[in-house]
Amino acid sequence: MSDQKNPYGSGTTGHVWDENLAEATNPPPKWWMIGLHASWILVLLYTIVYPSWPWFGGAFQGVLGWTSIGEYKRDLAAINEVRGKYESQLPGKSAAAILVDDELNEYVRRSAKVLFGENCAACHGSGGGGNPGYPVLADDEWLYGGEIDKIVQSISAGRQGMMPARGGAALTEAEVDELARAVAATDPTSSPLYSGKGTCFACHGPDGKGNPALGAPDLTDQIWRFGDGSVEDVRYTILHGVNDANDPGSRNAEMPSWQERLSETEIKKLAVYVHQFGGGK
Ligand code: HEC
Ligand code: HEC
Repeated sequence: MSDQKNPYGSGTTGHVWDENLAEATNPPPKWWMIGLHASWILVLLYTIVYPSWPWFGGAFQGVLGWTSIGEYKRDLAAINEVRGKYESQLPGKSAAAILVDDELNEYVRRSAKVLFGENCAACHGSGGGGNPGYPVLADDEWLYGGEIDKIVQSISAGRQGMMPARGGAALTEAEVDELARAVAATDPTSSPLYSGKGTCFACHGPDGKGNPALGAPDLTDQIWRFGDGSVEDVRYTILHGVNDANDPGSRNAEMPSWQERLSETEIKKLAVYVHQFGGGK
C-alpha cells in the first residue's frame, strides 16, 4: 500500500498490524450522520402518530387513532355503498329483467363469479367448461333449455334426467350395437331401431334432436356428456341408461337443488351468469 498520503486523518486507535496497517478514528461522513439522525427521528415520529409502544391497558394508540380494522371497515363501507345501489334493485327484478338491464347485468356478472366458483365450478368446471359426466354450461346445447327462466329452474329445483337401461326396450346385444354405431356417428335415425323397437324417439325426438322437457339431449351434435362419443361409450349408456335405479351400472347425473342453500337473489345472479357463458337464448 502507498504511504505517501496519510490516510488516517484525525488519528488512529493506536493498534498497528503488518507494520503500517492501523485503525483510523475518522468521523463518519456527514451525509451518513444526517441519515442516521433522520431515521431515528422518523421512527420516533411514527411511534407517536401510529399505534406502537406497550401502554397502560394495552398499547399506545397513536395520536391519529388509526387502526387496521378501522381502515378495513372504511373500505368495506365504501364498497357496500357502491354495491348497495345495485343489490337493492335485485330482489324486485326477475332474472329476465336483470338480463336486459345493461348496468345491472354487468354488476351481476361480476359479483356472481365468486358464487359460481364456490358452488358450481366443482362439477361444471370454472367458466362452465364442464367436466367428464357433467354438462358444459358454456355452449349452446342445453339439456333443459337455455332460456333464462329454464336456467333459474335448473338451479333452483335441481335436475335429474332419467334414461332407463336399453331405453326401456328389450333390445338384444346386436341391436344395442347397431344403435350405438348409429348414435356414435351422430346419425341415430339411420337405424330403423331408433324409431322402431328401440323407442328412443319417445325421448330424444323423432329427428334425434332431443327434448328439453325431459332433459333428453340432442344426439345429432358432436357434444357428449358421457365419454367422448365413441361406440363403446354410447353402447354403455344404452345398455345401462342414466340414473336408472334398477341398474347398478347406470350412469349418474344429478344436478342438486339450490333453493335451500342459496338465496333467491343469488340464484338469479347465477342464472344471469350462466346465461352469459355464451349459449343462453
Ligand atoms: C354435484 C355436481 C353439481 C353441482 C355442484 C352443480 N351442478 Fe349443475 N348440473 C349437474 C348435473 C349432473 C347436471 C345435469 C343433470 C341431468 O343430466 O339431468 C347439471 C345441470 C345444470 C344445468 C342445466 C344445464 C342444461 O343443459 O340444461 C344448469 C343451468 C346448471 N346445472 C347450473 C348449475 C349452477 C349455477 C350450479 C351452482 C349453483 C350448479 N349447476 C352446481 C351437476 C352439478
Ligand atoms: C325415457 C326417455 C329416454 C329414452 C326412451 C331414451 N333416452 Fe337416451 N337419454 C335420456 C335422457 C333424459 C338422457 C340424458 C340424461 C342426463 O344427462 O341426465 C339420455 C342420454 C342418452 C345418451 C347420452 C348422450 C351423451 O351426451 O353422452 C345417449 C347416447 C342416449 N341417451 C341414447 C339413447 C338411445 C340410443 C335410446 C334408444 C334405445 C335412448 N337413448 C332412449 C332419455 C331417454
